[in-house]
Amino acid sequence: MESGAVFSGLHRHPTPPSHHLILGHSRCAIKFFPPLFTDKKLFSSHPQSLQLQKQSDLALYRNGNNNHVNSVRVASPASNVTSELADIDWDNLGFGLMPTDYMYMMKCSQGDSFSKGELQRFGKIELSPSAGVLNYGQGLFEGLKAYRKHDGNILLFRPEENAIRLRMGAERMCMPSPTVEQFIEAVRATVLANERWIPPPGKGSLYIRPLLMGSGAVLGLAPAPEYTFLIYVSPVGNYFKEGLAPINLIVETEMHRATPGGTGGVKTIGNYAAVLKAQGTAKANGYSDVLYLDSVHKRYLEEVSSCNVFVVKGNVISTPAIKGTILPGITRKSILDVARSQGFQVEERLVTVDELINADEVFCTGTAVVVSPVGSITYQNERITYGNDGVGRVSQQLYSALTSLQMGLTEDKMGWIVELK
Ligand SMILES: Cc1ncc(COP(=O)(O)O)c(C=O)c1O
Repeated sequence: MESGAVFSGLHRHPTPPSHHLILGHSRCAIKFFPPLFTDKKLFSSHPQSLQLQKQSDLALYRNGNNNHVNSVRVASPASNVTSELADIDWDNLGFGLMPTDYMYMMKCSQGDSFSKGELQRFGKIELSPSAGVLNYGQGLFEGLKAYRKHDGNILLFRPEENAIRLRMGAERMCMPSPTVEQFIEAVRATVLANERWIPPPGKGSLYIRPLLMGSGAVLGLAPAPEYTFLIYVSPVGNYFKEGLAPINLIVETEMHRATPGGTGGVKTIGNYAAVLKAQGTAKANGYSDVLYLDSVHKRYLEEVSSCNVFVVKGNVISTPAIKGTILPGITRKSILDVARSQGFQVEERLVTVDELINADEVFCTGTAVVVSPVGSITYQNERITYGNDGVGRVSQQLYSALTSLQMGLTEDKMGWIVELK
């Protein structure tokens, strides 16, 4: 769907005024496209209260957003509107893209700083065929989640960590990046504008995907002249079809995800294209994902395609140290703290592939998977199994502790939760 298509269909104003929410640094100055959104008061502090006003608007909306048809509520302008859940099957969310109402966009030129972003209807974006991101892979992404609490509040988990990681990645990839404050403000605005897509408590979360890309045209190899920061969101359930059930990994010995001095430690888009082949082969052979080894010695554990890995032995929980080839996961960092607070001894160090043989448990961590217990790891045709097909005690304990915190079910003594309302 073209984002413009929804608006061009309205034809209420000869020259359409801005239909975007304009967001500055910390302030939210809002311009709306009447008559789709007629009551500006509704949106001044709560963009989540967006509602379609008239039956005719519903029809126009329907043309451009087929998948949203059932979820649109027609409210009278005077009604006291609260966010209503989208009408989708909340009990069967997977980890796939479900287009929502709004996305966030902010642009800046090379050498400048990001200054002003805006919410737009979710839809396609326009790029020059010679955009830096398309030709030279100048792109980064982030991933975080918003949870709906029983009391109606919306929670983010450590969004400043994602902002900081994006900034570190941007420095590596020669891109300007939003400030931490701009990042959090943009996430907040995007989540609230799409509030009706946040799953009910216990059914999943709203996955938030910030992107930073070289959107300007460039032919010779060089940083792009223009950059776009974009955020879109999608309601999600479990990442692995197994859910909390144990996953089955295969250790990859030929293909590598990252090399010393490369970009494995930042969340650049090319890292993910690079793992598709090994991951595809693993899945075709019945494995859930691939566990990578270091590319120099082919002996030390690195990480899985999109999550960090932990090995449990007795009271000791070990994970590969961050040394440039492994993504510094925010869940990883949080699990280390949670485990420490629960009395485990935690170690960040070189972990050899041989340690898998005697481990009591292995689990993976990431925003998408949270904590995912590993049921088996296959290495050089040998299959090592864990937990008698069940979820290991430590994995279960850490999963419960972290998810309870993220969903606002336990007190946040760490100061990790950001409430959006
Ligand atoms: C390669 C890789 N490792 C680890 C992680 C986990 O990071 P986080 O816990 O911040 O989601 C991710 C998350 O996307 C990832 O892509």
